[in-house]
Amino acid sequence: MPHKKTPFIAGNWKMHMTLQETRSLLTALLAASPDLAGAEIVVLPPFTALAEAAALLLGTPIQIGAQSLFWEDKGAFTGEVSAPMLVDIGCRFVVIGHSERRQHFGETDAAVNKKILAALRNGLRPIVCVGETLAERDAGRTFERVESQVALGLSGLSPQGFREIVVAYEPIWAIGTGKTATPAQAEEVHYRIRLKLSEKYGNDLAACAIIIYGGSVKPASSYSLFKEKNIDGFLVGGASLAAEPFVQIAKEAIRAYKEEL
Ligand code: PGA
Repeated sequence: MPHKKTPFIAGNWKMHMTLQETRSLLTALLAASPDLAGAEIVVLPPFTALAEAAALLLGTPIQIGAQSLFWEDKGAFTGEVSAPMLVDIGCRFVVIGHSERRQHFGETDAAVNKKILAALRNGLRPIVCVGETLAERDAGRTFERVESQVALGLSGLSPQGFREIVVAYEPIWAIGTGKTATPAQAEEVHYRIRLKLSEKYGNDLAACAIIIYGGSVKPASSYSLFKEKNIDGFLVGGASLAAEPFVQIAKEAIRAYKEEL
């Protein structure tokens, strides 16, 4: 069984934030650093703001990641960005298989797997997203869908590679809709994900895996979601675009974590 881990809170800025907006949001987050001290905090700016954000966050506890990458290290792939390029500007994380990439840009489980391997090969930690549509949930196919995304996306990893992975469960019906999954709904899927991981990589590694929840996470839902056994943190979209709600989400998770110690 998993033990509670330091909350892992990542802010997915999606296609938002100019350089000016990046500077002011990060300045506000850095000012709130004491409040964030009990959590692992990652921001995920758009490509255009990554270098600026990395420079601002250098030597601070806030870590940085990208929202996607291509699986080749270099070459004739117009418009794409590779893992070595991300490492070069100071990224430590990269989101892979976000449902918006799967839906709008045709990212398949096979592509997700290649991207994960490219990230790991270059020393980036993948935040791998999985999640069902509303139709799949209504048809009773949630576990099947998520388990197959986990099985196909995360195949062929070495134990060292597996240790670097963060899995994000993001039910598509909850993303950007204001409809957060209930703690029980999220927990039962997180539990199944951990079970699936333990089938593939063994109990010990699965118990250590970081499995975060995403989908309309707000300050008001953070505490009760984090209280669940298998929820280790959050991937926050809309509420990460301003310092106050993002910091509040982290504080609520830290409060829940401290009660478990
Ligand atoms: P949301 O986005 O918090 O705005 O629902 C979450 C995500 O897509 O990562």
